[in-house]
Amino acid sequence: MKNIYQLIEKYQTQAPRYTSYPAVPFWNQKITSDKWLADVSRSYNPDIGADFYVHVPYCRQLCYYCGCHRSILKGEKAKAVSTSGFFVDALLSEFEIYKNQIPNLRPHSIHLGGGTPTFLAPNELERLFRSLLKNAGGLASHSIEVDPRTTSIEHLEVLEKWGFRRISMGIQDFDENVQKKINRIQSFELVEKLLSEVRRRGFESINFDLIYGLPGQNLEGMKQTVEQVLKLRPEMIAYYSYAHVPWKMQNQKLIKESDLPKPELKLELSIKIRELFLSNGYIDIGLDHFVLPDSVLGKAYRNGKLLRNFMGYTDKRSSTLIGLGPSSISATASYFAQNEKDIQKYLDLVNSCQLPVLNGHKMDERDISTNSLIQQIMCHGKWPKNSDSISVKEELAAMANDGLIQSDDSFYFVTDLGKLFLRNFASLYDPYLEKSRKQLKDNAQFSKTI
Ligand SMILES: C[S@@+](CC[C@H](N)C(=O)[O-])C[C@H]1O[C@@H](n2cnc3c(N)ncnc32)[C@H](O)[C@@H]1O
Ligand code: SF4
Repeated sequence: MKNIYQLIEKYQTQAPRYTSYPAVPFWNQKITSDKWLADVSRSYNPDIGADFYVHVPYCRQLCYYCGCHRSILKGEKAKAVSTSGFFVDALLSEFEIYKNQIPNLRPHSIHLGGGTPTFLAPNELERLFRSLLKNAGGLASHSIEVDPRTTSIEHLEVLEKWGFRRISMGIQDFDENVQKKINRIQSFELVEKLLSEVRRRGFESINFDLIYGLPGQNLEGMKQTVEQVLKLRPEMIAYYSYAHVPWKMQNQKLIKESDLPKPELKLELSIKIRELFLSNGYIDIGLDHFVLPDSVLGKAYRNGKLLRNFMGYTDKRSSTLIGLGPSSISATASYFAQNEKDIQKYLDLVNSCQLPVLNGHKMDERDISTNSLIQQIMCHGKWPKNSDSISVKEELAAMANDGLIQSDDSFYFVTDLGKLFLRNFASLYDPYLEKSRKQLKDNAQFSKTI
């Protein structure tokens, strides 16, 4: 029997993270706003409402490792953009375009991501929610990604008032040596203080983002970071593998390659720290995500209700996801659409009352059935055996032999060990990947599976 390091070496490959299927590089068309609006109107269910994703693409300081879509503004410029109101005006104009088409449009839930949503001044967030959430049903709990360094009590007051109960904090690593190398100084005490304010205000679900593979990291330092995280016991932990793509993200050139952990160390950081989460009561729900069993996602996982979308794992299901802001992605059951990424072009479009959707994908019957299969793999670790090709059967038989899956007459089941290889199983069923492998030889647009 191979040990875990040998298995990772054997199955290491590049594959999408399947926050959408097909993955964005395989989307097939330019999209017109008329077609898109017609599809949203068709799919919208007024009894449920729509889920909204709002992208705020600004930050106050550059983290050298950052792979997100964002723009860094400092000093007077930051102050002006965070308080002057033009960005919230643009988001609301975009919302109005949708409302003109669907008069009874109302949010079921909203998620704010970025960049850093708390870059915006509290009264600007208040203004956004007052319009966006005016007719929202009272039941959903909204969520936000925050940078603890730029989140004030006033921000929390606004979030609490408007029904935000889920919060995700960028932590990355508490080791000061690592923090210096990534240009992100953020003390444990700062996070501890913010967290106690967040808990006092009744947030039911707190997530910490951590990254392994950052410059200067070693096993001892990472264990200490995780010990500190465990003291604070967030309901969820995202433990991301650092995606180092300096050819795409210029800012990552500020990281010295010689400071990055060697592949063997990165692997140890993945496996040993995973063991630490598991031995401290967290469960592994899938790609990079560890949760307490009684947390919102822990319950969804145990009840087979976990879902995966552009924001990662979720328990929310509505037929319509509308993305507002530059680079945001929207989705219905059969269509994906992505907004213009360039901030100025985005602003010009919405300010002239045009919907900023550009790139998209219309799903055909085969996409819809493959998507359903990949959701089952990524979210439940269980999928039906029925229509496997001979080559898929052979690969799965090898994986079963290595202890990564088991099966009965009807289904495959991922074992505990196999949870590390979800992307491998999913990519076996992905015809786009197969085609691009033949064309590209090396799938450099995707990160490694482990
Ligand atoms: C939008 S940020 C979170 C909110 C806020 N901007 C912050 O950093 O605190 C999303 C998360 O993506 C992760 N991330 C960013 N760049 C990454 C990279 N190159 N590789 C892996 N994870 C990355 C970080 O963990 C970060 O917390
Ligand atoms: S990691 Fe977060 S705070 Fe840092 S630059 Fe990226 S989006 Fe901004």
